[in-house]
Amino acid sequence: MAAILQTKIQLNPIKVFPGSLTDHSRAPSRIMCSAASPAKKRFNIALLPGDGIGPEVISVAKNVLQQAGSLEGLEFNFQEMPVGGAALDLVGVPMPEESFSVAKNSDAILLGAIGGYKWDKNEKHLRPEMALYYLRRDLKVFANLRPATVLPQLVDASSLKREIAEGVDMMIVRELTGGIYFGEPRGIKINENGEEVGISTEIYAAHEIDRIARVAFETARKRRGKLCSIDKANVLDASMLWRKRVTALASEYPDVELSHMYVDNAAMQLIRDPKQFDTIVTNNIFGDILSDEASMITGSIGMLPSASLGESGPGLFEPIHGSAPDIAGQDKANPLATILSAAMLLKYGLGEEEAAKRIEDAVLDALNKGFRTGDIYSPGNKLVGCKEMGEEVLKSVDSKVAATV
Ligand SMILES: NC(=O)c1ccc[n+]([C@@H]2O[C@H](COP(=O)([O-])OP(=O)(O)OC[C@H]3O[C@@H](n4cnc5c(N)ncnc54)[C@H](O)[C@@H]3O)[C@@H](O)[C@H]2O)c1
Repeated sequence: MAAILQTKIQLNPIKVFPGSLTDHSRAPSRIMCSAASPAKKRFNIALLPGDGIGPEVISVAKNVLQQAGSLEGLEFNFQEMPVGGAALDLVGVPMPEESFSVAKNSDAILLGAIGGYKWDKNEKHLRPEMALYYLRRDLKVFANLRPATVLPQLVDASSLKREIAEGVDMMIVRELTGGIYFGEPRGIKINENGEEVGISTEIYAAHEIDRIARVAFETARKRRGKLCSIDKANVLDASMLWRKRVTALASEYPDVELSHMYVDNAAMQLIRDPKQFDTIVTNNIFGDILSDEASMITGSIGMLPSASLGESGPGLFEPIHGSAPDIAGQDKANPLATILSAAMLLKYGLGEEEAAKRIEDAVLDALNKGFRTGDIYSPGNKLVGCKEMGEEVLKSVDSKVAATV
């Protein structure tokens, strides 16, 4: 927490949506409204649009979330706060104290994307991306869930041949708050010869491995019951401990088939035969790289959502793509990764599976009708912008209701 207290500057929320709760000092609420009939569940959702295409995709996803929720008796109090470059421009720091406080005291957080050319030359602690680092670390969201599914409608958008891509459906569980991105010692120092050296340390404690492994075993159990743990245990000591702890836990999950793979082989196997994977568990850096590789199998980075969860407190839900400054402000962004992140928010953050399913079905419906943003467009389909894609998904959320009422 200390690191995010970079400023005491007072920052008012840039937009407070009707009904938003202003008292963030109290515990996150899952209130049953007494007056409404039938009773509605109410949740506080922090929206962190960020930079570039972030605000465009968040605005679309918020509408879809609100609609799907209201059809399932859920009421959301949205509170939108600046982070990243937007916060730097407003108050001079990437993660203002008040933005963190709203996020921390919410029931779940939906984030757009962070970063842009404008701030590329900033000193490290004033780079927009530091907001993500602080959020993940200080919310202690150690488990990053990244599904990579090739939808039948988008099989031709995959970088792999149809017969290899078709049917791919995996979940990558990445450790998010440990390993080489956080390990000490770190930094650029001068060695005994007076030469500059860059130091990063891959370090994992047993409890960090156990808790992410448990999330992965539980995830695999709810899927096809196969878990592949990816490491570099032939070389790295941290990986040797990783393999030992994951193997030891396997006896608690007899219904899950555990295998191990070295990361270099995994990078190859993901391209050669991605269908062999169901659930993958791996460390922070390997997960970072392999999940981007997996995203290409699915067709576009604009399709992939993610969830970051801790032991307690709100989860952080965000598309895996960045702020795409090359297309920002042009209504060209694919909002589906963020819309699907909203579905993950409902499912993994709030336990509202029905509302989540409404969103997932509506996305498939819009794709079935042929609507495509530029990144997933192929001839014969209807090219739409970010807003129109959002409207089509919204219509599909509504039409499901018409069919079920
Ligand atoms: N989680 C995050 O917020 C996050 C993640 C990665 C990169 N970044 C930051 O984003 C900025 C740009 O980084 P980058 O260019 O390496 O990655 P990027 O993901 O922003 O863009 C890579 C390419 O994919 C396209 N793209 C990305 N999202 C898309 C979408 N929803 N619809 C259509 N096309 C999309 C972009 O136009 C671009 O051509 C940098 O400042 C980087 O640090 C932020």
